[in-house]
Amino acid sequence: MSSTPVPRVRPRRLRETPALRRLVSETRLHPAELVLPIFVREGVSAPVPIGSMPGVVQHSLASLPEAIDQAAAAGVGGVMLFGVPEVRDARGSGATDPDGILNVATTVAAEASAGRLVVQTDLCLDEFTDHGHCGVLDERGRVDNDATLERYTSMALAQARAGSELLGLSGMMDGQVAAVRDALDDAGRQDTAILAYSAKYASAYYGPFREAVESTLEGDRRSYQLDPGNRREGLREAMIDIDEGADVVMVKPAGSYLDVLADVAAASEVPVWAYQVSGEYSMIEAAAAHGWIDRKRAVIESVRGIRRAGADAVLTYWAVELAEWIRNGD
Ligand code: PBG
Repeated sequence: MSSTPVPRVRPRRLRETPALRRLVSETRLHPAELVLPIFVREGVSAPVPIGSMPGVVQHSLASLPEAIDQAAAAGVGGVMLFGVPEVRDARGSGATDPDGILNVATTVAAEASAGRLVVQTDLCLDEFTDHGHCGVLDERGRVDNDATLERYTSMALAQARAGSELLGLSGMMDGQVAAVRDALDDAGRQDTAILAYSAKYASAYYGPFREAVESTLEGDRRSYQLDPGNRREGLREAMIDIDEGADVVMVKPAGSYLDVLADVAAASEVPVWAYQVSGEYSMIEAAAAHGWIDRKRAVIESVRGIRRAGADAVLTYWAVELAEWIRNGD
């Protein structure tokens, strides 16, 4: 006669009540670990909605201080600024011009923040070049690594002078962290920190971002961003950047690269962040708009998954709303 075996081990015990579940939760979200990306567009007097990213706008210089206030009030840890210039050229001159939109916006944001959150800037040329690449091109139309480093070092100094505390190096040029670190140190800017977008993959998930910054990319970025199939190479890039002096390293996109994130988190001696990019945002928003997914639960689960995989902080377009939910105990 066989009897149904009675389980001795019952993991469900700890899932029984909300209080127990709360007590044994392994991954909590905190507003201070969220960073809000902000787009600032030159020459507009009011915020402009971004069609592919419902709920996200291109701010005007005038609307920026209120956005900073709102993020600070929600307890968000920082903002990452992106500039949308009116005019673009082959060298991305607007990026190094002290009067360029990103540099002006940085000063406005730093004043508005008054130390309540960390003002960070995207350090890359793609928003500023007419060809849309992250660097300058050589005579054959290829992205010229070493000539681009010179542009990045000028850009770094302009951003540091404008008041950026943490420079987000997102161009994926070889040697960019060392070049920028040296330039900052030589200029007496030892206090300006570097966030290296170390493992940045050539991803379809940046699609909506192109509309957000009105980038006009010809071709693709596969000669400098990582092949989505490469896990070991993501870790290698992070280790190189730490060696070159990065203060923080990042994996991007986040949701499809959680293995890379876990690898980097296990090996890194510096904080590891992840960027939940535009496409990750838009997919959940689109599904929720159709009623196909519970928006709030999906947002929280997506960011928790990224934290669980090892991110110390997450850049997400939901930063403010999520911070408010967390503070309300949702
Ligand atoms: C480079 C940069 C990009 C993003 C952040 N920094 C675009 C790219 O490399 O193609 C994408 C962010 C997003 O999709 O949300 N300036």
